[in-house]
Amino acid sequence: MKPKQDWKEQAKRAVAKEAVKNVKNGFILGLGSGSTAAYVIKEIGKRIQTENLKVYAIPTSYQAMLLAVENRIPLTTLYEYPEIDLTIDGADQIDKNLNMIKGGGAALTREKIVASASKKVLIVADETKLTDKLGKNCPVPIEVLPFALPHVIKKIEKLGGKPVLRQAKNKVGPIITDNGNSIIDVDFGIMEIPEKLESLLKSIPGIVETGLFINMADTALIGGEKGIKRLKKV
Ligand code: A5P
Repeated sequence: MKPKQDWKEQAKRAVAKEAVKNVKNGFILGLGSGSTAAYVIKEIGKRIQTENLKVYAIPTSYQAMLLAVENRIPLTTLYEYPEIDLTIDGADQIDKNLNMIKGGGAALTREKIVASASKKVLIVADETKLTDKLGKNCPVPIEVLPFALPHVIKKIEKLGGKPVLRQAKNKVGPIITDNGNSIIDVDFGIMEIPEKLESLLKSIPGIVETGLFINMADTALIGGEKGIKRLKKV
């Protein structure tokens, strides 16, 4: 039997390849962040080199920007193209309505802006990301202006959340996002009505963006040991 990591990496590569088949000549693309999105970026690079595919891309993070440059994908900005044809991105948790928790890589704010600017959003993930209820064993990452942290933490605790300030791995102290902000990972437990929580959170001054992606994805390609499942927004 193959070790667990093997099938997962294979599944991520397979969904990335399948997703990139949807990219057409002339497309403006949104490039997601994370390890599955990294496979997508490599695959787009391959199509550019082998098929002379013509696209411009808008990266959602410093990681995605560097990978795009490495894979010779021409970059652009929302200033040149405020409307994106297709964004392909990963997810940390996804339910049957294609609502998601994102931000494991701290790129949630740009990911949400790019998704919102896109005509179509295609999500790629392995099947460990599927859940019946959002929030089950998965905190919600929230990007916060550092000035407002103590205030935001208090408000979130009043809503019943348990926030933890995300720490950096190879730097002392908290992580700093690509936008110069902090991330708190908030355990809200299972969320029965995530859209309600989302609007409560968005009303707190100092919260830049939340990792709750409600009604944003059109399709998800989920890779498992037995192949790829395609989920559509219901
Ligand atoms: C990045 O901030 C997240 O929203 C990613 O989309 C998420 O962490 C998925 O990453 P993996 O594909 O590495 O699981």
